[in-house]
Amino acid sequence: MSNFLAAYSIQSWLESAPQGYLEHTEYGHAPGEKEPALILDNPVMRAAAIRTTVQLVVGERCALAASSGLINSAPDEASKRFLATQTIDEARHVEVFTQRLYDLGVRRSELEDALKTHANPHLVKFAEVLLEKVDQKDFVAGVVGQNVILEGMAFHVFELMHAGNQAVNPKFSHTLSGVIADERRHVGFGENRIGSLIRESPERKPEVQRMQRDMSYHMLATFAAAFQDTSERDEMERITREAEQRGEITRSGTWQGADLRALPPAEMEKLLSGTVLKEFKTRLERIGLEYQTPPAP
Ligand SMILES: [Fe+2]
Ligand SMILES: [Fe+2]
Repeated sequence: MSNFLAAYSIQSWLESAPQGYLEHTEYGHAPGEKEPALILDNPVMRAAAIRTTVQLVVGERCALAASSGLINSAPDEASKRFLATQTIDEARHVEVFTQRLYDLGVRRSELEDALKTHANPHLVKFAEVLLEKVDQKDFVAGVVGQNVILEGMAFHVFELMHAGNQAVNPKFSHTLSGVIADERRHVGFGENRIGSLIRESPERKPEVQRMQRDMSYHMLATFAAAFQDTSERDEMERITREAEQRGEITRSGTWQGADLRALPPAEMEKLLSGTVLKEFKTRLERIGLEYQTPPAP
């Protein structure tokens, strides 16, 4: 427990995040960095960037509601303090991704409408399953849903986006790297804290596992919608390829050993869901839960 206390204290949070990798950043990126012209000047690219960023805001609003909501049901003081640091991390994530929407030209007065219009319905469901547990003050299910499932998913989605944006959009990829560092800390807490609680109340397992199955289902359905092969996607690929041929951008990006430039959307979806589910399995096993395979969406 003492390692746990030190690793998840407010002191170590201050040293690693605000005084560490977030120092001298502005909304998570270097001051003055801008979205690339390739996105800002092209309506198709800009609309796609807005839609993607909306999903990030929706996911982070859920994480904010979950981490703050779990503070009062946490059984020990150290967990409450950690969740307080996580709450500000998640609020920051909401803020930096909302700021990106403004940077992409969404007006402040249009923000809620944009979120409503573009939020993936399955992502909304995914959040509801988790927040129901949080509202019931169910700490064990809440932490599994938030710090294992939601954040296990978010971590890989952010890493994939980071790999794809590193060369073409340094601003966004810098924002993502700070968020990724935060998520790594949150995921670690979930695993470290919840294992002992599951061992103390094994009777909770079936219900927590059912929640995992439901959340995994909605996650896969969200991915399926996000990677759908559309004419817009072809158009984006064409625009990017042409910019590359003109020498305006250099695409790069390998993730999980795959060259992202050569990967068709269906393959990318398979790689992402496979990676996330594999990690769910490993991490659930470590905390004493059995992974439940969701039905195919
Ligand atoms: Fe987050
Ligand atoms: Fe998080």
